[in-house]
Order: sequence, then C-alpha cells, then structure tokens
Amino acid sequence: MLLNGYIAALLLLCSTVSATWTAYKEYISTLPKHLSKRPSPRPESSFNPNEPWKPLPPSPPRHKTCYVKSHDDLKTDDSKYILNALHECNNGGHVVFPQGTTYVVGTALDLQFLKHIDIDIQAYIQFTNDTTYWQSHAFNQTFQNATTFFQLGGTDVNIYGGGMLDGNGQVWYDLYAEDIYILRPILVGVIGLHGGSISNLRWRYSPQWYSLTATSTDVVFSGIDVSGYSQSENEAKNTDGWDTYRSSNIVIQDSVINNGDDCVSFKPNSTEILVQNLQCNGSHGISVGSLGQYVGETDIVENVLVQNITMSNASDMARIKVWPGSAAALSGDLQGGGGTGRVSNIIYTDMTISNVDYAVEVTQCYGQKNFTLCNEYPSKLSIEGVKISGLKGSTSAKYEPMKILTILLKSPNTRESVSPSANPAAAYSFCAPIAMIQSTAIKDQLNALHKHIIAAATKSPEKKQRTMATMLTAVAQMGRSSERDGPDDAMVVLVRFLFGGGSRNVL
Ligand SMILES: *[C@@H]1O[C@H](CO)[C@@H](O)[C@H](O)[C@H]1NC(C)=O
Ligand SMILES: *[C@@H]1O[C@H](CO)[C@@H](O)[C@H](O)[C@H]1NC(C)=O
Ligand SMILES: *[C@@H]1O[C@H](CO)[C@@H](O)[C@H](O)[C@H]1NC(C)=O
Ligand SMILES: *[C@@H]1O[C@H](CO)[C@@H](O)[C@H](O)[C@H]1NC(C)=O
Ligand SMILES: *[C@@H]1O[C@H](CO)[C@@H](O)[C@H](O)[C@H]1NC(C)=O
Ligand SMILES: *[C@@H]1O[C@H](CO)[C@@H](O)[C@H](O)[C@H]1NC(C)=O
Ligand SMILES: *[C@@H]1O[C@H](CO)[C@@H](O)[C@H](O)[C@H]1NC(C)=O
Ligand SMILES: *[C@@H]1O[C@H](CO)[C@@H](O)[C@H](O)[C@H]1NC(C)=O
Repeated sequence: MLLNGYIAALLLLCSTVSATWTAYKEYISTLPKHLSKRPSPRPESSFNPNEPWKPLPPSPPRHKTCYVKSHDDLKTDDSKYILNALHECNNGGHVVFPQGTTYVVGTALDLQFLKHIDIDIQAYIQFTNDTTYWQSHAFNQTFQNATTFFQLGGTDVNIYGGGMLDGNGQVWYDLYAEDIYILRPILVGVIGLHGGSISNLRWRYSPQWYSLTATSTDVVFSGIDVSGYSQSENEAKNTDGWDTYRSSNIVIQDSVINNGDDCVSFKPNSTEILVQNLQCNGSHGISVGSLGQYVGETDIVENVLVQNITMSNASDMARIKVWPGSAAALSGDLQGGGGTGRVSNIIYTDMTISNVDYAVEVTQCYGQKNFTLCNEYPSKLSIEGVKISGLKGSTSAKYEPMKILTILLKSPNTRESVSPSANPAAAYSFCAPIAMIQSTAIKDQLNALHKHIIAAATKSPEKKQRTMATMLTAVAQMGRSSERDGPDDAMVVLVRFLFGGGSRNVL
C-alpha cells in the first residue's frame, strides 16, 4: 500500500502538476523515512496567554483502536471504509488513518453521530473533483448558501494526527470564474459539535471557506496549517480560514494561515470566542461579520477576544462589517441588509501588521457603494464596546498615510448626517458639521478628536501616530450605548482608519 503511494508520487513528478498533486507531493515530502503504524497520542490542550471563556468539558481516554482501510489508489472512493471505522470505534475508540496512506472521499459524509471518539488523521485525504456530485450532495448549511463536504458533530470528538485534508480546490476556482452561482463546498464542516478539539492538521486547497463551525459549543482548534492558492489565472476566492456561526465558547489558536479572504470571521451569533497566536498572510483580516444581512434576523456577536496576531500582506487587520438598513448587493451571490442585532465587547490586542492596507476598518455600510443610501437607511445593528490596543508594525502604501478615508455619522432621530469624504485634502473635514449633531456625547468626542488631529498635523510623525491611536480608542468607544442620548439615537459609522501608511511604523 505504501509502496503504491511512492510510485504514484514518482509518476506525478513526471506529469503535469495540478493543485491537488501539489498538496499530495507536499504530504509525501514531509513523511519521515520510517513510517509509523502506531496511533498518535492525543495532544494536550494548553491555552496561552488566555484561557477559553468557559472551561472545556473533560474528554476521557479511549479504549479501543480501529484502523481505516483504504484502496490507497488515489482513485477509488474510500468513504465506506471511513464510515465503517467511525461506527466501529464510536463511543470510546480511537480511529487511525495511518501515516503514508491515501484516502479518496467522493461521498458526502454525515458524521453527526460521533460520541467520545478520537480521529487520528496521519494520512492524506483528498476530496474528489466531481463538482456535479458535490453541488447536489454537499450538506446545505443555509447561511450564505454554505455547503460542506461533510458535517461532523456529536459530543466529545478529538481530531489530530498531523495529516492533510486536500479540498481539490483548483477545479472549483476555475468553475467559479465561469459561474458565480455554483455551490462550492467548505472543506471542514463542524456542525453541531459539543465538546472537542481539532488540532495538528494541514488543510489545503479548499473550494471555498476552509472551515465552518456552526451550532457548536466548546470546540478548540489548535496547530492548524492552512494554505492553498490558485495555480490558474482564476483566484481562489472566499477562502476564509474559520467562520463561526450560532456557536459559543470556541477557541482558535496557534495556527498559520495563508489564504485569500478573512483569516477568521465571526458570523451571526458567535459568542465567547477566543482567537490567539495566529500568523495570517494574504487575508482580509480578522472580521466581525458580515452581520445584518437577512431581514427579520437578529445577529449577535459578543465577547470576542483576539490576541497576539501577526497579519501580513492583508487588506485589513481588525475589521467590523455590518450591512446597512436597506438592501445592498456586494455581488450577485452576496447581497443583503436590513437585519438587526448587536456587536459588543470585542477586544483586539497585541497585533503586529506588515503590508496591511487598513489596520482597522469599521463599516455599517457593507456591500453598499452609495453612502447616501446608508445614510437614509442606517444599519439596525449597534456596535459598542470595541477595544483595540497594542497595534504595531506598518501598513502598506496602498492608501495615503494618516488619512481618514471616510467617516459617516448619523443620528436617525434627528436626521442629520455628515457626508463622507474620500478626498485627501478634506481628510479632516468631517469635524466641521459637528455642530449639527445633537448628541452631546458624540459631539464632545468628535470635538476632542478634532483637537487631537489638528495637534497631530503639526507635530512629529511619532507624535502623530500616538495621537491616531488615541483617536481610534475614542472612536471605538463612541458607539457605546451608554454614551448615546437615547435608545433611538443610533449611529451609522463608516470608518476606515489606516495608520502610518507608506510603510511607516505605527504606535
Ligand atoms: C478529476 O480527477 C480525476 C481523477 O483523479 C482526473 O482524472 C481528472 O483529470 C480530474 N479532472 C479535473 C478537471 O481536474
Ligand atoms: C442543497 O441545495 C442545492 C441548491 O438548492 C440543491 O441542488 C442540493 O440538492 C441540496 N443538497 C442537498 C443535500 O439537499
Ligand atoms: C444564495 O441564496 C440567495 C437567496 O437566499 C440567492 O438570491 C442567491 O442567488 C444564492 N447564491 C448562490 C451562489 O446560489
Ligand atoms: C504569539 O504567537 C506566536 C506565534 O504566532 C508565539 O510564538 C508566541 O509565543 C506568542 N506570544 C505569546 C505571548 O503568547
Ligand atoms: C503570503 O501572501 C502572499 C500574497 O499576498 C503570497 O505571495 C505569499 O506566497 C504568501 N506566503 C506564503 C508563505 O504562502
Ligand atoms: C441569535 O440569538 C438571538 C438570541 O438568542 C436569537 O433571538 C436570534 O434569532 C439568533 N440569530 C441567529 C441568526 O441565529
Ligand atoms: C508577504 O508577501 C511577500 C511578497 O509576496 C512575501 O515575500 C512575504 O514572505 C509575505 N509574508 C509572509 C509572512 O508570508
Ligand atoms: C444614491 O442613492 C440616492 C438616494 O436613493 C440616489 O438619489 C442617488 O442617485 C444614488 N447615487 C448613485 C450613484 O446611484
């Protein structure tokens, strides 16, 4: 069986390389000289610098071992073998996908029956490129038309082993370029899992998001290595690392992510989330949202702590994206607006950025290019208690340094508004209409900010940067409900801050 793998690898070296075989070759090249047939020990859970919001339930030791059979020919569907082993070892067992072995998954697997089981993936697992099959059989997760290759749920499940999951994404990247309405599966679907850990795995070439964690509680991701770029001219789009949805007490830590969309994204009803020690490259940052996409739904994201992140080659670091109060279309397959809810107690701290376009971006006008419309139909979602601190590094030179691109404030009960300005010369002009805003708390804060900015404009770069940080803290606090005049005095905030553009240091 193992020999087959090596012969296949050798043959592949001589044939044209597709993204799939890139992942497979990487897997083969990282195998040790002497393959182990032994189960690997379950990694210890450790948390540093922060503990999860709530303690995780204990996971008792397993007392039975099952080895997953394989055709090991990189062709024949091994799904039946996988299901058999999982059933055989459910309720107290340890399922091993041995090192050096290959598996093909060509069937949508419903794995929501799992209980007290360890899944030890030391092998290479490839999902087939049958886009027709997957589009009709992948599991529909409803939110944003998301579908998943498999759905893994139940209670007390640990997955680890150092192996690789290959989503065979290239065929999907190319198909999506032809038709944006295709349904691209998510590589890892954690759906309805209560208690568990997913650690020490490599995720490659996902057709869409790398993972969706939905209707789950008490789940930890650690030591995940995410990577996969398109090898054609068609970009690998929407390849978020993690998306959480209707889930609570989730930890994402100690991982390395090379992707092209959000590194981590907190979708509706993500609460008690801890994200720490990530190295993200090429992403859209760590994002709250998008939220408020669906009329009649209430989206809550609260109690999120993001700490010790290195963000490189990205569009954003800290990002909050909320749809406006009326319909907007970001693209044909992504539209929405009009939903309600709240964002509260979001902390970002200890972040190092390099070549990031926006250090911080907060918008309640997501998906809408016409700011007048956001002004007329402000978002029904409130943003409060956002704290951003300990940001260092340098932004890209994509935008003007020290420029506030746009700031849009609105107080619906008074129907006043401030027009955004993208004009560098008018960068500070948002302060002028402050007199029109009746909320004294907001007015005072803006006046204070105005003074800071004026002072900063005449001081040394170091001083400027510190002032920008103060300003950011103040703006973040502006959205706190306690500082509003009344319950109806909501604000639309569209702020795009960037710090020390042109590769200057920040903070
Ligand atoms: C899909 O996979 C099969 C089996 O590995 C391969 O023969 C075929 O060329 C692949 N098709 C595409 C479009 O990559
Ligand atoms: C999921 O939805 C798509 C599109 O509506 C449909 O074609 C597909 O059959 C559904 N999948 C399942 C497993 O029901
Ligand atoms: C997703 O679903 C919405 C309806 O909720 C639909 O308008 C949109 O076209 C769908 N997108 C895709 C990619 O199927
Ligand atoms: C921050 O994360 C890096 C990995 O990206 C890790 O090496 C380092 O120990 C972490 N620092 C702290 C204080 O936890
Ligand atoms: C980091 O991202 C850039 C693109 O933004 C990419 O060119 C580079 O290869 C990535 N680095 C790694 C290690 O994948
Ligand atoms: C989020 O949670 C709230 C409060 O439990 C609930 O009313 C709302 O329907 C949930 N929204 C979603 C999208 O699940
Ligand atoms: C960022 O991108 C540059 C250029 O593509 C690359 O050299 C660098 O390694 C990337 N940074 C990281 C952390 O991958
Ligand atoms: C933006 O929306 C306003 C209000 O509906 C409308 O009058 C204006 O024409 C729109 N602008 C553009 C560029 O579509």
